[in-house]
Amino acid sequence: MAPSSPSKRSVRWLAALLATSGLLPGAHAQYYNIDTPDQIRESARGLAYDMMLFYQGNKSGEIPGILPGPPTEHKGDYYWWEGGAMMGTFVDYWFLTGDTSYNKVIEEGMIHQVGPNADYMPPNHTASLGNDDQGFWGMSAMLAAENKFPNPPDDKPQWLALAQGVFHTQASPERHDETCNGGLRWQVPPTNAGYNYKNTIANACFFNLGARLARYTSNDSYAVWAEKTFDWLWSVEYIDHKDWRVYDGGHVEHNCTDVNKAQFSYNAALLLHGCAFMYNYTDGKEIWKDRVDNLLKGILRDFFPEDIAYELPCEGRQGACTADMLSFKGYVHRWMSVVTKLAPHTAEIILPVLKTSAAAAVKQCTGGESGRKCGFYWSGGVYVDTNVDKTSGAGEAMGALAAVSSLLIDQAPPPATNATGISRGDPNAGSRSRGAVEPLTPITTGDRAGAAILTFLILGGAIGTWSWMSLGD
Ligand SMILES: *[C@@H]1O[C@H](CO)[C@@H](O)[C@H](O)[C@H]1NC(C)=O
Ligand SMILES: *[C@@H]1O[C@H](CO)[C@@H](O)[C@H](O)[C@H]1NC(C)=O
Ligand SMILES: *[C@@H]1O[C@H](CO)[C@@H](O)[C@H](O)[C@H]1NC(C)=O
Ligand SMILES: *[C@@H]1O[C@H](CO)[C@@H](O)[C@H](O)[C@H]1NC(C)=O
Ligand SMILES: *[C@@H]1O[C@H](CO)[C@@H](O)[C@H](O)[C@H]1NC(C)=O
Ligand SMILES: *[C@@H]1O[C@H](CO)[C@@H](O)[C@H](O)[C@H]1NC(C)=O
Repeated sequence: MAPSSPSKRSVRWLAALLATSGLLPGAHAQYYNIDTPDQIRESARGLAYDMMLFYQGNKSGEIPGILPGPPTEHKGDYYWWEGGAMMGTFVDYWFLTGDTSYNKVIEEGMIHQVGPNADYMPPNHTASLGNDDQGFWGMSAMLAAENKFPNPPDDKPQWLALAQGVFHTQASPERHDETCNGGLRWQVPPTNAGYNYKNTIANACFFNLGARLARYTSNDSYAVWAEKTFDWLWSVEYIDHKDWRVYDGGHVEHNCTDVNKAQFSYNAALLLHGCAFMYNYTDGKEIWKDRVDNLLKGILRDFFPEDIAYELPCEGRQGACTADMLSFKGYVHRWMSVVTKLAPHTAEIILPVLKTSAAAAVKQCTGGESGRKCGFYWSGGVYVDTNVDKTSGAGEAMGALAAVSSLLIDQAPPPATNATGISRGDPNAGSRSRGAVEPLTPITTGDRAGAAILTFLILGGAIGTWSWMSLGD
């Protein structure tokens, strides 16, 4: 079931699209340039503005922090977690460009969603809460601490304490059990579809937060959790022992041995990012260097054909990437850029690739009436019209914004720690949420308003198509 080379597949597919849609490449001239730092800042400014057009959360009557959604309530294309991811993208945007235009909007969104116990479990979303959903919000709070994003007022929860709140709720015994010898489940409420799935993203978020909290606070308890979580992912072979491919997850009724081998870029990149924090926290310990280097090699091999970001499990098949998946490229760029700060020996490998990939991203931002709207298909070199394939949404806009702003990483300071930072922590954060998630009304598969992945639902179909396509070659 070896799929054919991704780049070839996507070129073939795009050619077919263009032929059937009557679109001509170059209908609009390239809008964004990224050759100099000034051009990069200027391009990022335009991309940030256009990204904000998707956000309604600062308008009266709308809910701060979220993108229009969730789809399950027919309110828009985006689940709760993606609002959290967007907040992080703008925390980086400000950090890298110095443009403060959106800081108030972002602070308001991040504070509005904290929930009654300041751990990103707001009642509107706890019934459908995934550990990864909560994790994405927690990671954006952690980023705000690391980037020294302006602190909220004293009477509001602080960034570091919010990240700790998320981590502590996830470290609590009620989220852990002995099935599969450990690991977090995908879903938090036992009645949710997906509660029986122990997946990479939930554990990667937890691992990642642990690694970062260890480095920020110098409290080794966080590192112990991070290490244990990485070891578990390795033991169930969600990380392939030979090629370091990172797979999606497995089910508890199979002792997690029915590994779903879909490889999403953000799973691998989030582990790489966390390993770089552990590498840095341990002053360059060989085992973490080894993990950084091997994951990086796998990511460049699998997700950067021709040095351009490519969402392996779905990009080659029209309509196969969900709204969630359409946003992954941006996180991958952001996380990989930070790796160059924490493990400086990777900079000369990573930075040129991110540059090529970002250039491809902006090359296709020629769509819409503005002539600068961004789509999803970076390696094709042309904007694919939204009438053909609905791929010019918030995730795609966020992807291009992230790819461009991350090019400024070489001029940015490394992530702060308690020695250099300004955010106040709270060792007891999250402790009041014990038992807060009760099985209330059962959520059916159809209702599940969840995070990043419907992979285990759609995957069978996707693999079927790949085998078919490979046979056809
Ligand atoms: C919402 O934020 C955007 C971007 O900062 C701004 O242009 C717009 O005026 C804001 N709307 C309101 C109602 O504050
Ligand atoms: C929860 O949802 C209600 C109804 O949509 C909304 O009015 C409220 O602002 C939401 N609360 C939060 C904290 O987002
Ligand atoms: C270190 O973190 C653990 C929880 O992760 C906490 O129980 C402990 O109090 C922390 N230690 C200090 C000195 O803050
Ligand atoms: C489940 O898998 C783990 C390895 O991940 C193994 O140690 C354990 O013995 C297995 N348990 C059962 C019941 O097969
Ligand atoms: C850890 O990060 C700092 C800041 O970027 C860097 O100077 C240092 O070299 C890193 N440590 C290791 C072991 O690479
Ligand atoms: C950072 O936090 C750790 C653990 O609480 C503490 O030992 C250390 O002194 C702190 N460093 C600074 C510079 O505040």
